[in-house]
Amino acid sequence: MRIAIDGPAGSGKSTLAHALAQRLNLTLLDTGAMYRSVTLACLQKGVDLEDNDAVAQVAREVRIEFMSQDDKTQRVLLDGEDVTAAIRTPQVDAAVPTVSAIPAVREAMVEEQRRIGSAGNVVAEGRDIGTVVFPDAEVKVFLTADMSARAHRRAQQSSIDDPAREQEILDALKKRDEIDSTREAAPLVAAEDAHHLDSSNMTVEQEVEAVVALVEKARAAGGVQAEPPVQNEPAKQESAVPVAKPKSTTAKKKNDDKRTGPMRLFARHEPEEYYEHPVREFPVTSRALLGAAILVCAGISKVLWPWKVENGKTLWKAEGGQVVVMNHVSMLDPVVIMVTEWTHGRRMRPIYKSEFDGHKIVNWFFARIGGIPVERGTADVKAVRRAQRALQRGEDVLIFPEGTRVYSDDQEVEIHAGFALMAQLAKAPVLPVAIVGARDGAPGGNKPLRPGRVWLGVGESITFDQIAEKGRKKQAKAMEKRAMERVYALRDALRAAHPGKM
Ligand code: DC
Repeated sequence: MRIAIDGPAGSGKSTLAHALAQRLNLTLLDTGAMYRSVTLACLQKGVDLEDNDAVAQVAREVRIEFMSQDDKTQRVLLDGEDVTAAIRTPQVDAAVPTVSAIPAVREAMVEEQRRIGSAGNVVAEGRDIGTVVFPDAEVKVFLTADMSARAHRRAQQSSIDDPAREQEILDALKKRDEIDSTREAAPLVAAEDAHHLDSSNMTVEQEVEAVVALVEKARAAGGVQAEPPVQNEPAKQESAVPVAKPKSTTAKKKNDDKRTGPMRLFARHEPEEYYEHPVREFPVTSRALLGAAILVCAGISKVLWPWKVENGKTLWKAEGGQVVVMNHVSMLDPVVIMVTEWTHGRRMRPIYKSEFDGHKIVNWFFARIGGIPVERGTADVKAVRRAQRALQRGEDVLIFPEGTRVYSDDQEVEIHAGFALMAQLAKAPVLPVAIVGARDGAPGGNKPLRPGRVWLGVGESITFDQIAEKGRKKQAKAMEKRAMERVYALRDALRAAHPGKM
């Protein structure tokens, strides 16, 4: 049994995890303490925290051990020295977000965390347990609490009884939340299949009961065996769970089939829930609606605009999620690409302008066909993150960077850059695609499209390895430019091969 508990600072993860470890006889894994220990080691050694390589080197070299002394405490040893108190100073508090945001540090920590978890019987708490460390944990909890409850809890932990200090704690928590949630490497997000628990008005006992009920349900539903309890350490005798042992080589198989949470979440059918879940896990009614829409669109479009896909394999056979960018000439464009994706077993998330959501029915429908709204003209971080997560789940994301239908070649077009950022964050390739023969030629776009043949040309995918520029922003800019050049080159080649078609 593996239990993953994620949540922001002060939500009560440690207390809950500790109580669960006692109750269910599980090994307690406090991953925050590991990032804190690396931070302390860097501070002690005088390592420049901005020097990612040097910090990562420390992360790989230190030996972190946990020791259960009695029922109440777990002590942390750093290279044999007890640092239980030293890792909780304001200096470490201030520096740990910088250290924990370094991808190579996270890699080293996650590897050790998985090694500890490979034996099972663990309750791990942190920020990325359900999403990165143990994505196949049998029970995942995302613990939250309102800000003032969290600040109050922190103040109590430090025996502080001063409203002004509590306000300071609250401000510091807000700052850390912001850093932890917006960093690039494993930001704090709830796993799709996590059970959300708001601890603001719950006692620890109530929280424990709630999680124990989930454990029992997981055991009953997923065939998870009730594992034999871990041997209890004799009282007062120290037991160590050493962290720096030979590395485990057993790779874990991702098991998506045990997800029971999402369907429950969909009970209310809020559009947001669709944006955050894979299309394949949509409620059956929504999937039926999407299937029906696809079949109707496929039938009508194939008769009126017989369309052909060239080099389709690159689109259909890609290994993971890809950002598909395309020129936009009519409302037929999304139909053709969505139909061809769906009929080849792939799922695609079209990014559409949020102005459409002004119509409730459109918002309702777009959510159910997998659409993700984007607010144009702003840095819509929410939309970028949603697209990033879809890509990481293996879904394709469809974007028309021109942002609107282009009715003639002299129309002024402003390319929207968000697609390169999505690809960059998800480490996904960008796939240029062009459509020819579908232009409706109507400024305002309301004239019916005349029947005729349509071609969809698929290019070769572009990865960031192929971009020579250095630095994130320059790379994104270069990707944006290269991808759109390829889209237009593909379009021009199709036009040349099919004269008269636009
Ligand atoms: O839970 P905590 O406050 O002890 O965590 C200390 C820091 O480490 C916090 O800034 C978030 C970070 N952390 C992380 O990035 N990933 C984890 N799995 C656990 C903690």
